Amino acid sequence: MTRSYIMDEPDERNRLDAMAQGVIGRPLDRPEGPLKTSGTATYAAEYRMNGRIEGVLVTATIAKGEVTVLDESSVRDFPGVIAVISDDRMTARAAQGGAGKSPVRKVREVRYYGQPIALVVAETFEQARHAAKALRIEYREDAAALVDAQDDAIAFEQFEEPIIQGDLDKALNEAAHTVDVTYTTEGHNSAAMEPHASIADWDGKILTLHSSLQMLRFNRKELADALGIDPEQVRLVSPYVGGGFGSKLGISPEGVAAAVAAIRLKRPVRVVMLRQQVFQCVMRRSETRQRVRLAADAQGRLNGFGHEAWVTNLPGEEFAEPVLQASEFLYAGENRVLDLQLGRIHRVTAGSVRAPGEAVGMQVLEAAMDELAEAIGIDPVELRLRNIPEKHPSEGTPYSSRKLEECLRRGAERFGWDASPRKPCLRREDEWWVGTGMATATRVHNLNEAYARVTLRSDGTAEVASDMTDIGTGTYAILGQIAGEMLGLDPAVVTVRLGDTRFPPGSGSGGSWGACSTGSAVLEACEGVRAALAAKLGCEEAALKLKDGHAFSGADKVALSDLLGGVDVVQLGHFKPGKITEAFSAAMYGAFFAEVGVNAYSGEVRLRRFTGAFSLGRVLNAKTATSQCMGGMVWGIGSALTEGLTFDPRDGHIVNPDFAEYHIPVNLDVPHLDVLLVEERDPAGSPLQAKGVGELGICGAAGAIANAVYNASGVRVRSFPITPDKVL
Ligand code: MOS
Repeated sequence: MTRSYIMDEPDERNRLDAMAQGVIGRPLDRPEGPLKTSGTATYAAEYRMNGRIEGVLVTATIAKGEVTVLDESSVRDFPGVIAVISDDRMTARAAQGGAGKSPVRKVREVRYYGQPIALVVAETFEQARHAAKALRIEYREDAAALVDAQDDAIAFEQFEEPIIQGDLDKALNEAAHTVDVTYTTEGHNSAAMEPHASIADWDGKILTLHSSLQMLRFNRKELADALGIDPEQVRLVSPYVGGGFGSKLGISPEGVAAAVAAIRLKRPVRVVMLRQQVFQCVMRRSETRQRVRLAADAQGRLNGFGHEAWVTNLPGEEFAEPVLQASEFLYAGENRVLDLQLGRIHRVTAGSVRAPGEAVGMQVLEAAMDELAEAIGIDPVELRLRNIPEKHPSEGTPYSSRKLEECLRRGAERFGWDASPRKPCLRREDEWWVGTGMATATRVHNLNEAYARVTLRSDGTAEVASDMTDIGTGTYAILGQIAGEMLGLDPAVVTVRLGDTRFPPGSGSGGSWGACSTGSAVLEACEGVRAALAAKLGCEEAALKLKDGHAFSGADKVALSDLLGGVDVVQLGHFKPGKITEAFSAAMYGAFFAEVGVNAYSGEVRLRRFTGAFSLGRVLNAKTATSQCMGGMVWGIGSALTEGLTFDPRDGHIVNPDFAEYHIPVNLDVPHLDVLLVEERDPAGSPLQAKGVGELGICGAAGAIANAVYNASGVRVRSFPITPDKVL
């Protein structure tokens, strides 16, 4: 049986609270945690299979042109080499995922440096890698291809209809205080710990791919589309994912190549990307140039708000980093210009990376807001408080729950924010200038359709199953808690099974929608189970109480195992976001407060303290939510201080394609992170009254750090990351 819920209106039923089991929200450990920390969770590349052979991708070394010679004979006699495969289907990719389609292009037509053009298959990895390096390839190179994002020849085009309201220029001319600043951010890599890896196995009818993916329901269609087979013939297995951060939203080249090779060679084929390939041929976050224009009256109320951004992608790609996503709804200002421009260059596809849009848009907007606060001479917290709009400034829709003011106030209090007039370079400790900065956090709330199956077994235990993934976020824990809460069970007796397309299609993990979307499908399934139990007990659903493995109705109490009489109850739950997504402007909110030291001699920035106060609807698990917020703040440190892809301006290749050269924060870069969860319920957020969590922690974080750098040192760096050379 299927129980379906299409959400058109706020769900005021408060269903989880009504259960009062006390399971939801608790800071439970992840059930799969010990498997991961002991190295016994099996990741994609770790499955053993008889006869498995190894493939290594060969990637293009020009930005644009054509492969004229791909000389298989150059490696055919190398030890262990089985085949060189160069097949148009290998170029199929869908960096965004969710498309269900995977555009296939000619593999010999090169469109970016790093594009996969062949797969060398051998008995061992070392043999395959050796032959892949030795394979003789010649190109016809199109030397005029644009690869440099600074190139004046790039023609930018409006990506979507801009938002233009009132007269921004006039507002700027007449304003008491204005800011007109241009910032830049560098490209980013998702930087998941686990590289992209797949093992493909073809039994003549079914292609099984063990892979590291975020969105199995869509990835299955993408792979089938690329291979030209039916989705029913594809099984994806992805129970553990060592981080995705957007880079595994779509099927990726190594998975398609492994599948093509497995079908051709009739043996299981493993392809693991080298770290450099993950950087060079999966996807990047676009670099951005952003102009922010703000006009405020003497009291610091915005009446003009302009945010324009320039980003790039490969020709033909449909994605543009949605830099202005938060600027559309966050602050007031009746005279508005929001305009996103996309330019085409021959660099690896730009796609979703760790909070696409807000991550880099908010860090710039919040730095510009700091500049405005200084121009006006008011406290930057106060400036934010004065500009919280009543309704969406362009669409007029109401906001769903929004505890921005509470986050600003409580975060400031927790941090010990000094609201007295601010001036840079006031505090010096030995060779360090010390200062503080703050920023708002916000990220749009997304939902996605999902199915999940809940089985209440006759022994009084339960199982939740969905092809949903857990990309390190805590999905296993949270789905078990939802089922435990609804069915009156200790989550320890609820088994959660994820990451296999044999299970009902979940929402996948992306856009911070996983817990709310698949969690709501679990909620519906549990409602169905409860209805079945009420029928067995002969009572109204509303009168049924489930607790500690027992069912209660009035004075009656019966153990679930007795009530079920040896028969399992199986229920499918279906959740679909309906009109609710249009009716409200729904987002998560927060505030960051940072203290930094800036070395007076080296320009080095050390983050000393970092506080984040976040409101994100109902907290489903206080520990995993807190950890997600911390993770986002760590990304923010990277975005502020160290992370940036560097492209060779001649051919667009990434010159820092690994963790030795592309610097993500390590332990010594991260001080104690103080996370405060400001509780709320959002009936318009989801049937769980929860909202997204995963990506909020980065959205604005780097702005707070940049503002602290200015307050400490008096240097306003308008190009991220803020490396020592820019501070000096
Ligand atoms: Mo995310 S960057 O939508 O996985």
